Amino acid sequence: MFEKRPIIALDLPNKEMVIRFIQKFDSRKKLFLKVGMELFYKTGPSIIDYLQNLGHDIFLDLKLHDIPNTVKKAINSLLSLNVAILDIHATGGFAMMKEAKQIIQDNANASNRPKLLAITQLTSTSQNDVQTIQLIDKTLEESVLNYAIWAKKAGLDGVVCSAQEVKKIKQILGLDFLCLTPGIRPAGNKNDDQKRIMTPRQARQNGSDYIVIGRPITQSSDPEKKYLEIKHQWNLDGLNYE
Ligand code: C5P
Repeated sequence: MFEKRPIIALDLPNKEMVIRFIQKFDSRKKLFLKVGMELFYKTGPSIIDYLQNLGHDIFLDLKLHDIPNTVKKAINSLLSLNVAILDIHATGGFAMMKEAKQIIQDNANASNRPKLLAITQLTSTSQNDVQTIQLIDKTLEESVLNYAIWAKKAGLDGVVCSAQEVKKIKQILGLDFLCLTPGIRPAGNKNDDQKRIMTPRQARQNGSDYIVIGRPITQSSDPEKKYLEIKHQWNLDGLNYE
């Protein structure tokens, strides 16, 4: 088993805050960072260039959801950013997922092709939301699995789900089908708005390929220390830091 980096969700409002946050980390360590809507809509692509120039890897979490043609063209626009991971909502449908994947195959070099993941159910979604808002007469886990099956059929690299669902997804769709899991909280941390949470250690034991963790690190008084603790737990305590 090799050492993995947790992905830090940079849910910060502007570039100045990002600069201040990143300066709290040893600059020799290359981080895996998630840029989401809050930051990207404020700064535009320049934030990606800035972070990549420092050597960090980027998951651009824009959760695209629209008609197939619009999503396909949005993905095409994002390809020039050379990020490591992009995501779209599985609820956008099979054709949307397939076309999004196809444009990546057609227009990105194999060497820097971003992985494309489908959001299944958000980790803030509850069983009650599935039944009353989405009117799905199935369990939340069945719904997640169904989206994962369709994402795989559409050729996507994996899904975004809760660590609670990873074992089942891997059993059915194979170990190579990636599971990226937000909703991670170290033992003792508050849940915030997350509902289907797990600890970093549980996520690794369940087979998550990537964990995403935001507020427990960004709101910590010592973000690097917190990051290293989480990284240590995510690596099941047994491995050395880089
Ligand atoms: O602060 P916290 O650890 O809850 O942040 C989780 C991050 O993961 C947020 O940026 C959120 O947008 C993202 N995310 C999520 N659930 C998903 C997909 C992404 O919480 N299904």
